[in-house]
Amino acid sequence: MDFKEEIKRRRTFGIVSHPDAGKTTLTEKLLLFGGAIHVAGAVKNNKIKKTATSDFMEIERQRGISVATSVMGFEYRGRKINILDTPGHQDFAEDTFRTLTAVDSVIIVIDSAKGVEPQTRKLMEVCRMRKTPVMVFINKLDRSGKDPFELLDEIENELKIHVRPLSWPISNGPTFKGVYNIYDEKLNLFSGESKQTVEEVIEFKDINHPDLENYIGDEYAKTLREELELISGVYPEFEVKDYLSADLAPVFFGSALNNFGVKELLDCFVDIAPYPLPVKAEEREIGPFENKFTGFVFKIHANMDPNHRDRLAFVKICSGVFQRNTNYLHVKANKKMKFPSPTAFMAEKKSIIDEAYPGDIVGIHDTGNFKIGDTLTEGETVHFKGLPSFSPEMFRYVENADPMKYKQLAKGLDQLMDEGVAQLFTNKFNGRKIIGTVGQLQFDVIQFRLEHEYGAKCKYEPIQMHKACWIESDDKEQLEDFRKRKYNVLAIDKHGREVFMAESPYALQMAQEKFDKIKFHFTSEF
Ligand code: G4P
Repeated sequence: MDFKEEIKRRRTFGIVSHPDAGKTTLTEKLLLFGGAIHVAGAVKNNKIKKTATSDFMEIERQRGISVATSVMGFEYRGRKINILDTPGHQDFAEDTFRTLTAVDSVIIVIDSAKGVEPQTRKLMEVCRMRKTPVMVFINKLDRSGKDPFELLDEIENELKIHVRPLSWPISNGPTFKGVYNIYDEKLNLFSGESKQTVEEVIEFKDINHPDLENYIGDEYAKTLREELELISGVYPEFEVKDYLSADLAPVFFGSALNNFGVKELLDCFVDIAPYPLPVKAEEREIGPFENKFTGFVFKIHANMDPNHRDRLAFVKICSGVFQRNTNYLHVKANKKMKFPSPTAFMAEKKSIIDEAYPGDIVGIHDTGNFKIGDTLTEGETVHFKGLPSFSPEMFRYVENADPMKYKQLAKGLDQLMDEGVAQLFTNKFNGRKIIGTVGQLQFDVIQFRLEHEYGAKCKYEPIQMHKACWIESDDKEQLEDFRKRKYNVLAIDKHGREVFMAESPYALQMAQEKFDKIKFHFTSEF
């Protein structure tokens, strides 16, 4: 197969959801279809259960599993599919945002009873920012849920994307009959007797055929016809280009647990999802078919054995062919490096590979050379656009708790921040270091890992803080005035950018009103 064909058959995507909507279950069913795993439960262990908040051994164990499931590759209908795993626990949301920078499309899972939830909204924001094509799977139809039209409205309004149902449910909960697959005109009947049953799928091109009554009964047949008519009246014909331009999300209904509606989703996904897209670098846009290799690091995983401080850097290949044992330029460090044992991931297995194509992810051993966002090339100086940091939600001062271990603490904090565990800000006025996280769990993880991996002890002190905003202004005078007045709440982030640490929503609002020539950004990518 030639180079172009190899790229065109790749589909690299992420599955995201609010916790408990069914992301893990759906991932597992997709892997079963791809023959990548043979038993259910293989992915499930990757979840950090809510009860694990104070059980660090559990977190460490799960961190081990999550290396194995970071990328799940499998073959399906001649395509090479790479699912990039994203942590379900919302305290690790930043990790999910970063992983989304390495995917070419996304499947969003929504619980039919709960509808759009906060985490879904935030994840969609990232997809919108990056114009990532999105498909929606509305899950748990075997349970009583919201009206499907209401769900579609909710998705349109809250996720701010047009929708087009490509399958349609026939009732839900105890009376769930199945779905009509609008995309390939088939009727999928739900039996619900056993979770392992293969669903009954019937070719059904003419929805007005009287056989429909025989399959689902008079009443449901009537409703289905009316609703399908309404759909074709309300929603425009589905056009793949609208999906690819991220203007419209095709929607499927089903039940991941019952393996119902999943194959239809996968088949449509394989048909329409994009192969690796061009990636924007600061200097220019880089297309996947370019001959020379480029790639960037989107995730770093530390080794859990403190005696081996090496880490695994995950590189997304953007163009060209990545080859083992070949000299590449680490752009930021301006250093040539070669990698003798790059690994690829096939579901549960890891193996050393000789080459990888755009869309693929390779894991390379790292002794501390890489930071998230670093670019590798064959020699060209390009920098892939920074990965977005969002304003953290929680803040604490971090202090050294063991005066003999100052260096270890500095190194540990530095490396954990490179890995993207949390964000570090330094107050410009007093030099104190502030850690910002999305949830309490991250503070616990940092403290635990500093002690176990770096032999350093830290303590936290409370700080009154609401949000970190990256500031920018063309008005030099106003910016100087702002700096003078807010000197004690300005900080710099780890890239040296200036950040306003607003103490409260009120302080933020006042600053926005008073300093109208200053832009306050809540993500670092603007
Ligand atoms: P997540 O990764 O998005 O957090 O969700 P996950 O797949 O773990 O699913 C959350 C819960 O929802 C699980 O139940 C799972 O079995 C259930 N679930 C997933 N899909 C469906 C579905 O189609 N129908 C129904 N009725 N339930 C579904 P749990 O009790 O939390 O976990 P477990 O004890 O089953 O492992």
